[in-house]
Amino acid sequence: MNILLLGSGGREHALAWKLSESHLLTTLFIAPGNAGTSKVGINLPIQATDFPGIRLAVLEHHIDMVVVGPEDPLVNGIHDFFLADPDIRHVSVIGPVREGAMLEGSKDFAKQFMNRYGIPTARHKTFEKASLSEGINFLNSLKPPYVLKADGLAAGKGVIICKTLNEAVNELTVMLQHSKFGTASQKVVIEEFLSGIELSVFILTDGKNYVTLPEAKDYKKIGEGDTGPNTGGMGSVSPVKFADNHFMEKVTQRIILPTMKGLIAEGIEYKGFIFFGLIKVDEDPYVIEYNCRLGDPETESVIPRLRNDLVALFKAVDEQSLQNDTISLDPRYATSVMLVSKGYPDAYDKGKVIAGEEDVRGSMVFHAGTGIHAETGEVITNGGRVMAVTSLGDTMEQALEKSYNNIAKLSFEGKCFRSDIGFDL
Ligand code: AMP
Ligand code: GLY
Repeated sequence: MNILLLGSGGREHALAWKLSESHLLTTLFIAPGNAGTSKVGINLPIQATDFPGIRLAVLEHHIDMVVVGPEDPLVNGIHDFFLADPDIRHVSVIGPVREGAMLEGSKDFAKQFMNRYGIPTARHKTFEKASLSEGINFLNSLKPPYVLKADGLAAGKGVIICKTLNEAVNELTVMLQHSKFGTASQKVVIEEFLSGIELSVFILTDGKNYVTLPEAKDYKKIGEGDTGPNTGGMGSVSPVKFADNHFMEKVTQRIILPTMKGLIAEGIEYKGFIFFGLIKVDEDPYVIEYNCRLGDPETESVIPRLRNDLVALFKAVDEQSLQNDTISLDPRYATSVMLVSKGYPDAYDKGKVIAGEEDVRGSMVFHAGTGIHAETGEVITNGGRVMAVTSLGDTMEQALEKSYNNIAKLSFEGKCFRSDIGFDL
């Protein structure tokens, strides 16, 4: 079958690499992809949110399945767009319909969903411009730190944690009254601060059945020891030592099963990944957020541990026969360390030549923000997060050692990375 994968990050290179190994695949296309995906498939110069452009490509290349990497097309309703068009409705789409994607697209929707099904999460209230003064009263009733979340998608920047009441009142006002995040902050969720250690749990569901993928931990802050501003993610580790069987059983019983039950009860036919952003408080899991896709850079550590044929799993999702599949895992540790451009997550340069990939041994390099120079054909930087170096090892330390040894062989001007991935495990 012909598959079109949407997206252009490290997550998509890891997915493309895995899909390209399937004997069920004829040709893999990636839109828009990056320099890494061009080695395992054919890149098409179409943005993942350009629905008419995607439609044309699907018809031209006789695509049988579309796999959606990032959240934007899902929240914008790409699956619904396919279902509504007689010319492309036969194409399988891996990724939920818009209503399912609202679990990520609206924090308020997600919170109400969790409340309806008794899923553990931080206590919260939602406010709008008209209820700003109630929001300020609510802040007065909480203890610091204060957690403010723009309701809609804000490119991962919509969560603000304030140390003081003054700062929180100010932020709330700017978000609601001055549209700090545009329409995304028309509503703001204020919630109780939870203190604990975070992890990411993933399932793949056909809407009735599901399989659990390996869990992972990501490192969001730019600085060593988890300091400084948030990024898209600086590295990841899978498995997560503290997520033992006992803890994962709580995750299944208290979070995954009630989420599936809720989706079914509400008639949301969810076909795709659910990413549970969890926090372990004492010994118990709580949901920080839902995402309607895989995580990045978690995918770069999760996918190399998956032994199943990913195309076969996606076919089972489409046919609602996932009950017949069991997940087979590489028991080893996978670690991914992200190389980023100097300056990221603020302003950074692009177009720097990347050298040394051919010298990498015993690790995989998943490209994120990379491109190919139009004249010289050289691989160049094209984003803040440039590439993830992923390794497998019997221990986390062995895997990390391989990643760091190979990082030393890769060079580009302004190369930065965190040298402490996994430090807290
Ligand atoms: P989110 O975009 O919802 O994943 O939030 C971004 C980050 O903010 C999370 O990864 C957490 O580190 C932090 N965060 C969000 N909600 C809370 C909360 N209720 N308590 C503590 N930290 C939180
Ligand atoms: N690594 C977190 C995310 O993909 O949202």
